[in-house]
Amino acid sequence: MSAPTPEAGRDLIEVRGLVKTFPVRNAWGRTQGTVRAVDGVDLTIRRGETLALVGESGSGKSTLGRCLLQMDEPTSGAVTYGGVELTSLPRAKRAPFHRSMQVIFQDPFSSLNPHRSALQNVMEPLTALEPGADARARALEALAAVGIDGDAVHRRPRAFSGGQRQRIVIARAIAVRPGFVVCDEPLSALDMSIQAQVTDLLLRLQRELDLTYLFISHDLSVVREIATRTAVMNRGRIVELGPTAEVFASPQHAYTRHLLDAALSTDPATARRRLARISSRPDFEAAESDSAGEAALVEVSPGHLVLR
Ligand SMILES: Nc1ncnc2c1ncn2[C@@H]1O[C@H](COP(=O)(O)OP(=O)(O)O)[C@@H](O)[C@H]1O
Ligand SMILES: [Mg+2]
Repeated sequence: MSAPTPEAGRDLIEVRGLVKTFPVRNAWGRTQGTVRAVDGVDLTIRRGETLALVGESGSGKSTLGRCLLQMDEPTSGAVTYGGVELTSLPRAKRAPFHRSMQVIFQDPFSSLNPHRSALQNVMEPLTALEPGADARARALEALAAVGIDGDAVHRRPRAFSGGQRQRIVIARAIAVRPGFVVCDEPLSALDMSIQAQVTDLLLRLQRELDLTYLFISHDLSVVREIATRTAVMNRGRIVELGPTAEVFASPQHAYTRHLLDAALSTDPATARRRLARISSRPDFEAAESDSAGEAALVEVSPGHLVLR
């Protein structure tokens, strides 16, 4: 059984009213309150697109990604994939979706088993998720697609460079033939020169394998280059969402403007100082009231939504 996939350009994923809270504990482990990591998110992801999710560290990007993948159980709200509501499916019926929805994390070292070869690492999820498949042939095919072949497939992760390790992680994600991949800061641990190569690889695989990406990144220059649409997240909420070119050229929410201002500054030291100031500036009282709950996404031009 496989998860249903709609036609290209139609909504593949629909998120409605998604909330994820975590208990906040003190040093003695006692619960002190809750943090609303995702605070009422509505979002659709169209089949075949790259939707970028940007925002400062701690804004809830990874938690949103994990809720889509069912790695975190949402506190409330619904996630639909190909028309099937995952959040109301019994666990036993979720297996095909675990195959269809994959993830690539920032740190390839911690996502690979150091004691197993590249080939064994790529075979592992295949064997678990598709017991009948020819795991070895499929894994070799996926490794070849990311440029790792010959005797290299028998080496362990530490024998590879950082960029090659990330290629192995990518091979493992695509080997199970997913429809949707969450790329959570997939370039952040890589050297600048390698980042472009891995970006090109992700784009080529997207075209060839008909993949849909949620691309989580704080690198706005990469986002501007590759994302179809961009969603901006602040304190657990989407504050702006629209076609990437439009969000970058004509940002409507104060938080987006400051994020762009800080990130696109050419001098990294200035950028860091500006980023550090973002959350303490008075303009962000508007952003604070966003999370009061009354604010909603309003369409300011076709497909361009702003929290007001
Ligand atoms: N497993 C967890 N337990 C407790 N708090 C968490 C957990 N995961 C995330 N958080 C909190 O949720 C918020 C959002 O985190 P995260 O989704 O990792 O943000 P981002 O990916 O944008 O940096 C942060 O305040 C973080 O500390
Ligand atoms: Mg994160």
